[in-house]
Amino acid sequence: MRCLKDELENIPTGIVDTSILESAKNIAAARISELAKKEKFHHFNLRKLRSFKEREAIIDFYGGLFDGVPQETRSLLVFIYWLHDIGFCDTGINNEHGRAAVKLLREWGVTGLFEDKVRQAIEYAIEYHCQPQLPQPESSELKDTFARVLRDWDKLGGFVYKSDGWLFDENAKAKEAEYCHAAGETGAIKPANILEEFQKLGYIDKKHVVDNNASYEAIILLYLAWIFDVNYRETLEVLINLKIPDKFFKYFKKQLGQESSQFQIINNTFKKFLKHSHLN
Ligand SMILES: [Fe+2]
Repeated sequence: MRCLKDELENIPTGIVDTSILESAKNIAAARISELAKKEKFHHFNLRKLRSFKEREAIIDFYGGLFDGVPQETRSLLVFIYWLHDIGFCDTGINNEHGRAAVKLLREWGVTGLFEDKVRQAIEYAIEYHCQPQLPQPESSELKDTFARVLRDWDKLGGFVYKSDGWLFDENAKAKEAEYCHAAGETGAIKPANILEEFQKLGYIDKKHVVDNNASYEAIILLYLAWIFDVNYRETLEVLINLKIPDKFFKYFKKQLGQESSQFQIINNTFKKFLKHSHLN
């Protein structure tokens, strides 16, 4: 299985000049502030985008995985992570927001600051991150490595945030439920095809959840399916060490009942995934 650490260490040193990266950060931060003043963002999306520090914190989750990885590579990846959802302001939450983000970053003159190979890798990773129906990029080319890392971080950050917010913070939960048009805690997962997709370890289109006024549990399942598509063993290990999947399973067990067929499907799928990922 591909090893994230090896791959990151194999990225050549000096791929980006620190002063160029600083300029790119400053331009992007100024443009994001302008957009925020015009209230172009949904409040939730703005909260996600405005803190570069938050993005740096993601690196902490990986701990020792980053030993030996050049500082400029780390900084560049955090920079990509910070901006990857900027397209929300044009498209809302859908699978086009990666493409919209690239368009904005080009218009702002941000990606144009980097040399061609790095620019292409940044743009490719951002465009690719929100197309879960597409397979993981396979090669060790810079753009493919960046795309895999971004997908993983996106899942890791999102899952940590959602699991804490949705399961333990009533206010965050209420806001998210409203935002996703969730019908509340019904203890049921509707429609049934969400469970079928989950069993197949398939991609669950958000439309299945949002358009059907689904239960709160269905939305959690959507996120669980999302994280099952992790690229790297390391990402899953981080999540398991943080006991994040456990939080969801406890929730499902309590809401659905241990003996319910719905809970059995979820439980079996999770076991299947762990086996598939060689973590047992
Ligand atoms: Fe995204």
